[in-house]
Amino acid sequence: MNDSLPEEIALRTETDIIVVRKSVREAATRLGFGITDVTRIITAASELARNVFLYAGSGVVRCRVLNGSDRVGLELIVEDHGPGIVDIDQAMQPGYTSGGGLGFGLPGAKRLMDEMEIESVVGKGTKITIKKWRKGT
Ligand SMILES: Nc1ncnc2c1ncn2[C@@H]1O[C@H](COP(=O)(O)OP(=O)(O)OP(=O)(O)O)[C@@H](O)[C@H]1O
Ligand SMILES: [Mg+2]
Repeated sequence: MNDSLPEEIALRTETDIIVVRKSVREAATRLGFGITDVTRIITAASELARNVFLYAGSGVVRCRVLNGSDRVGLELIVEDHGPGIVDIDQAMQPGYTSGGGLGFGLPGAKRLMDEMEIESVVGKGTKITIKKWRKGT
């Protein structure tokens, strides 16, 4: 999407989450998001990336600038080919965890972003799209 933000960040090891955080910080800052929103986007991205690492083993994060006619935003797509999520509504419940976590990653990410969409097929994988729109002009 630009010089310092790779279009795709591979998630293979835990340190790749740091790469995601750094890239997302740079992209959101360059787009003109304020520090509070930058922090929200980084937090949401790292929760989703951590889930990929924990539940699917590996995956990818793609970043894209959204250029609407009257607004600018950042879209992140976090995708894996892991086990998939059996019950998305249940996974979105605050406090639900299958893995001994706190169960706040997914609902937290939704709250921090403007839009979140989960597509998941059991046995095939999970694709989560999150968007944040920049306030003001
Ligand atoms: N990429 C994924 N692939 C498969 N299952 C997932 C994936 N992401 C989330 N899940 C399922 O959704 C549940 C809820 O995820 P969430 O991130 O909200 O909580 P958690 O990871 O269990 O705990 P934490 O609060 O530490 O993030 C997980 O326990 C897991 O069962
Ligand atoms: Mg989690």
